[in-house]
Formats: sequence, C-alpha cells, structure tokens
Amino acid sequence: MALFGFGKPAASAERQIPQHIAVIMDGNGRWAKKRGLPRPAGHAAGAETFRTIATYCKEIGVRYFTVYALSTENWKRPQEEVDALLDLFRKYLREAAETMAARGVAVRVLGDLTPLPEDIKRLVQEVSGIADTLGAEAATASLCINYGGRDEIKNAVRCIAKRVKDGELALSEITEDTVSSALYTAHLPDPDLVIRPSGEIRLSNFLLWQSAYAEYYFTPVLWPDFSAKDLDAAIEDYGRRSRRFGGVK
Ligand code: FPP
Repeated sequence: MALFGFGKPAASAERQIPQHIAVIMDGNGRWAKKRGLPRPAGHAAGAETFRTIATYCKEIGVRYFTVYALSTENWKRPQEEVDALLDLFRKYLREAAETMAARGVAVRVLGDLTPLPEDIKRLVQEVSGIADTLGAEAATASLCINYGGRDEIKNAVRCIAKRVKDGELALSEITEDTVSSALYTAHLPDPDLVIRPSGEIRLSNFLLWQSAYAEYYFTPVLWPDFSAKDLDAAIEDYGRRSRRFGGVK
C-alpha cells in the first residue's frame, strides 16, 4: 500500500479545514493490551493509522499534518519497545522515500536526531532531500522523533544566545519571530488544531511554543482505532469554535 494516496475530496466542502493539524498519537499500548498483544503491535497499528489519517488529511486539504512519534522521554521504555519503534521509522521512511514525490506529500522529521542509529539518520537525510525538491503545492507530513517542547525551546535559546554573544544579533532585536525561527518547526505555520486521543488531557511537552493559540480536541478513542470519521468530528468541533487570538469578536 502506498504511504500517501490521493482520493476524492470530502463531501462537505463548506466546512472550515484547519491548515495545520497536530496529533499526539496516544493509546497504542492500551489498544494492544485490550487484545492480549505485545505493546509493539499497538505501535504498528498506530503507524497504520498515521498512514490512513495522513492520506485523509491530504485528500481534504489539510496542508500540514504533524505527529508526535517519539518523545525525548520515550527512550526510558523497554528496549524491545524502543527497537520496535525504530523499526517502524525505518519502514515508513523507506516507503516515504519511494512514494512521496509521486504523492505530493513532503515528509519531514523534526527533533534532536543525534541519538538515532546512523541508518535512520541517513534515511532522514534522504527523505528531506526529496522533500526539498517538491513544489509549493505539496502537503507536508512531519514526524516528531526524539522531540520535546522544552528541549526544543532550550536549544533555540542557546542558538539565539550564541548569535547575541557573537555580535550577530542585538538583545533588542529578539522578537517572537526570532524564537519561532530557531525551532524545529521554523518552516511550518503554528498548528490550528491539536488532537489527543486516548482520553488523556495533557500536552506532554508537545509543540509548547507553537500551540499557544491552537484549539485542542480530546477524544477517548485510542489512536489505532482513530478513523477518518473521528478526524471529521474533530474538524467539525474546531469549526464551531471562535478563535480570538486574545482579541474580541
Ligand atoms: C504513545 O502511546 C505512543 C508512542 C509513544 C509512540 C507513537 C508512535 C507510533 C504510533 C509509531 C509511529 C511511526 C510512524 C512511522 C508514524 P502509548 O504507547 O504511551 O500508549 P498507552 O498510553 O496506551 O500505553
């Protein structure tokens, strides 16, 4: 099966489609446990859901789709589970390298890639090289790997502090844009809608700076069970909200 497919646009053309949707793919372990399966089976099912929902996002006109695939804290999990996640990244990045040019979806990886195995780093380079060649009409699917919002902000502060120390930047020139441009997401707009399945109601260090004005949507559905219908429900809910960005309407 292709990683990202084209399909018919969703029927309800009137609805308000967020430009950027971000998802905390939670509930894989519970999904596996309910079925008497090992946890890695839940992640494999979750990766299939990523494929389905990324494809659907492209179909309905969501331009940016970003998922939390491995946090800076997830390395504490049993080695077998971490290895299974790394294998999934290998599999999906290889598929992305083969299919994304034809599908018009630029796959990007965000996070501190330093501790990743060398073969995965090479795959990430290959995939981002192909993504760079895609035109402006391509959608973007970003996988956050070894990502942590605080870690990202700390790295941005270091980078900006160094520019100040080196005399490249004056303190008075530091703006919110300076910070945004020093984050892994520098090339992305902020998320409009952040979805967390599985019944947990917290951010878990995901896109902390970027989600300052995002709308949040929480659902008890476990990520491997999350379907296009569930995304439609989230988008409908989003469409009913009045975004004020601190102003009045
Ligand atoms: C959280 O659920 C999920 C993760 C830590 C990993 C998410 C990764 C994937 C779905 C695979 C992604 C791979 C690609 C290529 C997209 P949990 O395990 O903490 O669930 P639980 O709370 O039910 O235990």
